[in-house]
Amino acid sequence: SQSRTPAYTDEGFAARLKNEHRDILIIYGSQTGTAEELSGRLSKNFTRYGRKSLVLDPEEVEEDEWTKLGELENTLLVLCVATYGEGDPTDNAQKLIEWIKTTDVDLSKIQFAVFGLGNKTYEHYNEIGKICDRRLAELGAKRVIELGMGDDDANLEEDFCKWRDMFLPAAATSFGWELDPEAESARQYKLQLMETTPDRLYSGEFGRLNSHVKPRPPFDQKTPYFATMKVNRELHTDKSDRSCRHIEFDLGTSMIRYEAGDHLGVYPTNESRLVDTICSLLEFDPNQAFKLINLDEESNKKHPFPCPTTFRVALTHYVDISAPVKAHVLKAIAEFASDEEHKKKLILLSSNEGEGHALFNDFVTRERRSIVDILAEFSSCKPPIDLVLELLPRLQVRYYSISSSPKAVDKSVHITAVVTQYKIGERQINGVCTTFLRHKNVGDTVPIFVRKSTMRMSYNDSQTVVMIGPGTGIAPFRGFIQERKVLMERGTVGGGKFALFFGCRHPEIDYIYKDELETYKTDNVLSHLFVAFSRNGPKKVYVQDKLVEEEELVYAAYESGYILICGDAKNMCRDVQQTLIKMISKRESVSEEDALGKFRVFEKSRRYLADVW
Ligand code: 2AM
Repeated sequence: SQSRTPAYTDEGFAARLKNEHRDILIIYGSQTGTAEELSGRLSKNFTRYGRKSLVLDPEEVEEDEWTKLGELENTLLVLCVATYGEGDPTDNAQKLIEWIKTTDVDLSKIQFAVFGLGNKTYEHYNEIGKICDRRLAELGAKRVIELGMGDDDANLEEDFCKWRDMFLPAAATSFGWELDPEAESARQYKLQLMETTPDRLYSGEFGRLNSHVKPRPPFDQKTPYFATMKVNRELHTDKSDRSCRHIEFDLGTSMIRYEAGDHLGVYPTNESRLVDTICSLLEFDPNQAFKLINLDEESNKKHPFPCPTTFRVALTHYVDISAPVKAHVLKAIAEFASDEEHKKKLILLSSNEGEGHALFNDFVTRERRSIVDILAEFSSCKPPIDLVLELLPRLQVRYYSISSSPKAVDKSVHITAVVTQYKIGERQINGVCTTFLRHKNVGDTVPIFVRKSTMRMSYNDSQTVVMIGPGTGIAPFRGFIQERKVLMERGTVGGGKFALFFGCRHPEIDYIYKDELETYKTDNVLSHLFVAFSRNGPKKVYVQDKLVEEEELVYAAYESGYILICGDAKNMCRDVQQTLIKMISKRESVSEEDALGKFRVFEKSRRYLADVW
């Protein structure tokens, strides 16, 4: 992101609000794009009051510019911020949050609202939203509405809509804005059809035209590297009804650096059968070149995605066509249904209340109906393709825990991913990115970049390390184990115990990396290897059952070593924590409540590290 100069550095946000007559400043802290998407939608919602907003990526603001928030008058500041990991801000909001925490700027001339995006299965639920809400009030800004909190584990979209439906009228009252209902349904982008030669068109790249042909470091989320796939191998045996892939990418001359425990961002593309369905349902020329141009000419977002491109490329690379469709999309396309029954039902579904809301929860959310399903089912509904492209959210990057160590695998990076695929009734549901990866061949290129994680460990002392990683939770530990092997060969590791707790269903089905792991054990790279099989015999055995059996070892790691855990946050991680807390309670003869307190201290020491999803 450092490589590009944003359009508005020369003129800061404060000047822009004033000169461009914008009343609202919306700042997003976004990692996977949801907060960014919600911010864009809020900005559009404000047009129903004839108000213009400025949507800002805080990463593109110079640090010393934040004090200018104090100079604003009569401005509505909206923060739409996600919380990650252990109550951390997203990468793009780190500096902003640091500033908000420490500044003493006077904000008494502005009003504010905060919407936080979080996940209740994690601790520190919506911590960043709470901090922003509290600090802005402390700095004197006037709160328009209570902090909104979205729970990604339940229904974030619904939380957001509920909050927004209270927030907008509250803001309008507070500022004396009048409703102009016609205004909002207006388009945000205008379509321009073009005749261009293929090399002038975006064909799936992100930052720079042709960046996939002439790669130029540094590579990051905005400029991913098109890495060549070297290996794409099945890890489950043929007795498995699922698929788990071991994938290796060549980093070539990209100079991409990473460490064991980091994450790999992967940009998927949509399945061609889905793209083809839209093309045939809506009857347009998929190879037509076009641009979508923002009608707000001063906006820093000129196009919703890289333009010019073709309809097929946009549907394949740039918009999400498989997620459950959002209610506001249904509302916008309803008027293009020629069949009155279709139109009525689409409007009902999008109504956000009563019967329509219940129907939406069932038909769209629970049964996961995408825009493709909707257009197929309501076949008389034929919105223009450019409207559909404007309304759909951007296709987002997916993250995987890296399963290699750069010290062990030269110039390459590995990931380990279970393919998401299941049926709802007759409909086949496929995870976008794992399906994409599964069908890529050796030699194909895939846009990737590295995201730093906080899972770091020291190898050169005598501490006990306990790693808990059932299923694909093994990924980062495979990297750590590879790394330890290299360091052992160099003679730079201490004699501490290094134990892996792995869990899967059955030894002959999904015991992934079995041979490798057993060899590491034989060679004493792993001092201990415990495997829990959950579907081999009458009784389920889980990793936590093995932890209980190995109390001495686990407790030693708790006392003075490391416990690392990776995998499913909702069930596995929570249950393992419960097991550890019980163990502390037993060993130290304290109540479970006190043991929980001790566990919290352990977490803060950064000797308990979790990479969970
Ligand atoms: P199961 O699906 O047979 O119940 C990797 O996914 C392994 O983690 C599987 O063996 C799975 O078992 C197991 N698993 C599922 N829920 C778990 C939990 N709450 N705690 C620990 N392991 C769990």
